[in-house]
Amino acid sequence: MKPLDIEYIKKNLRTREFGRELLYFEQLDSTSSHLAELSRGSAARQGIVVVAEQQTAGRGRQGNSWYSPPGPGLYLSLLLKPALPSIKLSGMTLALGCSAAEAIEGIAKAPMAVKWPNDLYCNNRKVGGMLTEMQSHGGLIDNAVIGIGLNVNNELVPLDLCDTASSLRLETGKVCSREDLLMGLLYGLETDYRIFREQGLKAFTERLSARFFLKGKRASVQDGLGIRLRGVVSGFDSDGGLLLADDQGRTVKCSSGTVMEMEP
Ligand code: BTN
Repeated sequence: MKPLDIEYIKKNLRTREFGRELLYFEQLDSTSSHLAELSRGSAARQGIVVVAEQQTAGRGRQGNSWYSPPGPGLYLSLLLKPALPSIKLSGMTLALGCSAAEAIEGIAKAPMAVKWPNDLYCNNRKVGGMLTEMQSHGGLIDNAVIGIGLNVNNELVPLDLCDTASSLRLETGKVCSREDLLMGLLYGLETDYRIFREQGLKAFTERLSARFFLKGKRASVQDGLGIRLRGVVSGFDSDGGLLLADDQGRTVKCSSGTVMEMEP
């Protein structure tokens, strides 16, 4: 498979800020680790994007690794400089997940959904994920590294993931341009990050509800403290927390965690 055509991207990128500084690597341990390191220097500006053809230590949420072979996938990290208290950013991953899902759907012509909190799904299978890592200073988040991994043209997924994971190619039967995906993602994220800063997650309620993968499903969620919550997913709240209706009909909220299983 061809390497990313960086010249084409630079010529055709429609953003004002995101990706205007584009750092391309054939191989990195992790684009997010590299960008976090860069962002510790004061010169790193909002909108820098690090992209790699392969990652030797790609990271997912909660200590998981992200399978990052060379060729078919897209592995990128974007630097934001919010200068806001963390409470104002609690719904950001969900908002940007919605933005990413819409951008991918528009380009790959694949039906995309967002599985709380940060998985990108196509036809009931995970094709991508987002990892948001923040650094604070004096009570404000000064750096947020948004890492995105997307299985684009993979013809196979690892055997241990094949029940739940897939790629855009496997789902649509078509090869998709990684360059167009990268440019579409950055354009969508730039537009929607501005909307999120101005209006918060409420501006995404309709868009997100239309592609909220878990809605109406029975789910079992392990929250950040390791407590198991069960119920039918009713939606999300203004902070991006997952709302479930438990068997007594009460609404319970899960602010962070992982959906462990989905019962029929
Ligand atoms: C998840 O589903 O748990 C999130 C996966 C995020 C993977 C991406 S790939 C680019 C960036 N660099 C990393 O090491 N991780 C993110």
